[in-house]
Parts: sequence; structure tokens; C-alpha cells
Amino acid sequence: MNELETRAMFAGYHPASGDGAVKPAMQPSSTFVFPTAEAGAAMMASAYGLPTGLEPNDPPQGHIYSRLTNPTVDVAEARLAAWDESEDAAFFSTGMAAITTAILAGTGPNRPLWFCSPLYGGTEHFVREILPTMGVTVRELESLDELEAKVAELKEIPGVIYMETPANPTMQLHRMRTAVEFAHRHRTEEHPVWTYVDNTYLGPILQRPLELGVDLLLYSATKYLGGHSDLVAGAASGNKELMGGVKAYRTFLGGMIDSWTAWMLSRSMETLHVRVERQQENCKHVADFLRVHPAIELLQSAWNEDLPAADQAIAAEQMTGGGAMLAITVRGGREGAFRVLNRLKTFQLAVSLGSSESLAQHPASMTHVAVPDEGKQKFGISEGLIRLSIGLENPKDLIQDLDQALEGSAH
Ligand SMILES: Cc1ncc(COP(=O)(O)O)c(C=O)c1O
Repeated sequence: MNELETRAMFAGYHPASGDGAVKPAMQPSSTFVFPTAEAGAAMMASAYGLPTGLEPNDPPQGHIYSRLTNPTVDVAEARLAAWDESEDAAFFSTGMAAITTAILAGTGPNRPLWFCSPLYGGTEHFVREILPTMGVTVRELESLDELEAKVAELKEIPGVIYMETPANPTMQLHRMRTAVEFAHRHRTEEHPVWTYVDNTYLGPILQRPLELGVDLLLYSATKYLGGHSDLVAGAASGNKELMGGVKAYRTFLGGMIDSWTAWMLSRSMETLHVRVERQQENCKHVADFLRVHPAIELLQSAWNEDLPAADQAIAAEQMTGGGAMLAITVRGGREGAFRVLNRLKTFQLAVSLGSSESLAQHPASMTHVAVPDEGKQKFGISEGLIRLSIGLENPKDLIQDLDQALEGSAH
């Protein structure tokens, strides 16, 4: 059996199915021809979960319409499933489409969502402001250690436990096994308790939550999976039964990815490990420089040197590297941070992360601007905080750029 990188390289496509072409073609067709009317009727019935009228109840395989499935999307999904070693994967038009669709598929009036904060701002807004208007009970946990106490206090079992680890932008870690063990203790056939993890920050190369028993991974594929700041997409990957529901919701909510973006993702995922490993290596150099720089009040990262002692044990259990994201706090609040951001030349001043080029942004006024002041304070999203996403440039240039931008900020 081939190793992971080899399996992911070839997953979903064989040249024999594509005129010998080494790479899969891009299939933009919106609709697909049925071999016969009878076959079309059976395929449509099957797509809606209805009896096909066939004996056995086995419809012909094939594509119907690209909001449901598409051959190019199939290749991308097979590649993500190969990287994650998941039972099934699905791509979406954006990370938010993947997250909202998966949450709606897993929750309901008797299936509360319990989430561990902090979350990415868009997810946080959806679960706090929109999901409750749909009749879903939403509860915030400060830590996964509260899970059993909450059950005792509220006499309620969640339908979904949702978390992001490391959390954006300040790198809090959550111990995924705690949620998995809780879910296994409380799930029944009538009331499954699912664990969801947004794995955008470390991705399949540095963190493999399914191996710890997590049920579903969510990704902003706009980040490392795409990796070049030239596409917007999302993904879900995990347990087959759960993914069946997620894909059905995708069909009706309509967040399907388009074939061009799926094709780009298949291509990008061939270099995922090379990019992530090199970005991580570059990040190590930059972090070593920043850790001792007199202008930096605080460096937060998922590297052991920067993690609180309790988080170091969690990191050892569930991560194989610190990744390529940093959060630095400079003196002088917003003015100090803006001064540094405006002086950067090699780092691009832009939101997003996980791309080939390095990016810098100010969470308090940019990605997390909608988080109320109280929440910003609780999660350490201070005015002096700058988030850095380390790319593939030569790290010497990144260090030099930060050094000149930080000049004069030390006092
Ligand atoms: C951790 C995380 N999850 C989800 C998202 C949402 O993804 P998208 O912007 O692709 O919709 C983002 C976007 O920044 C993110 O950083």
C-alpha cells in the first residue's frame, strides 16, 4: 500500500479514464445526459431518497446535475478524503458554506449546538446570531472541561460539539479527545452526538483529528488547501453517515463548489505537504527572531516555546507541528500596530491566511471587528495585536521586513 502523499497524488483519477492524460480534465457541464428515460427516472428517484422502481433497488451510477455532483468535483473530493483518510469529503463554494451547511445538517430543535470559543468571526456570528433564530439552542463553553457539568446543570445533551483548534487569532488549544470521549459516553442511536473541528489552521499535514475520533472536519479551503490566494472554497470531511446528511443539505442549500475551483484545488492539493512544511520551517525562523525582539510584548504561536504549559501537553497529543501562523503584540495599541503594518513591504497587508505569500492584518479592526469589546478582551484580541501568516518567501527577507517595520517601536 502506498504512503499518504502518494495516495493523495493519484486519488480520484486514472489516466485510462481520460484519454491517457496525466492530469484530469476540467468538466464545466451543468447537466448530464441520461442513457435512457428509465435510467434517468431511477437516478432522480435515488437522488431524492425515493424507491427507484428497479429490482434490486439499484439505480445506474452517473451524474445528473452539477449542483449535486460533478466529475471534476469528485476528483477534488477524493483527494481531500485521501489526505484526511476520511470516509467521505465534500467541497463547497466557501468555507462559510461548508460550516453553515454542516451545522444545519447536524443540529435541530432537539439537537443543540455547544461550541467552544473563540471561533472565526463569521462562524461566531452565524452560531450566535443566526442559528438561534432557526430554533436551535446554542451554548458557549469556555473550556471542554465544562462538558459534564453543563449536562448536569442543563439536563441537555448536545447534538453537535463545535470547536476550532488552534483558535484564530490567538492560538488557544482545545483537547479534542475530551470532546470525543464525552460524545461517545452520551451518544445513542436516536441521538448521535457529533464532534466537529475547524481544521483550517493546521490542516491534514499537521493535525489529524479524525484519528482522535472526531467525526467531522471543516475547512476554509481558501487557505492552505488552495494555498495561493486565488480561490474561495470550503470543505467538510469525515464520517460517512454524517457526510451523507451534509451532502444532502448541500444539494438543497446550494453551496456546491464550481468545477473550475474544484479543478484548481485538485492541483493545489498535490503540493499541500510541500507548501505547509516549508511555510512551517519559514515560520520557525521568523518566530525565533520575533521571540527575542525588544518591540514584541507578546508572541503567540502554536509552537511549544510560546504555548502555556497546559497547552504543550495538548499539542504533543494532537499536533505534529506548530504551523505557520503567528500573533504578535506590539506597544502603543492600535496606533503602534498600524504604524508597523503601514511600514511592512514584503508582507502584504490583507486578511486571509495559508497562502504562498506572507500576509499581515490587524484582527481587532479587521477580521474580528464585529466581536464585541467584551469578547475581544476575553480572548486577548487587543489593539496592539497583529496576525501574521507566513508564506514561501525566503525567511531572511521576511525577518528583514519585520525588523525594519518594527524599528522605533521598542519604547
Ligand atoms: C478558521 C477559519 N474558518 C473558516 C473561515 C471561513 O472561510 P471562507 O472565508 O472561505 O468562507 C475562515 C476565513 O478566514 C477561517 O479563518
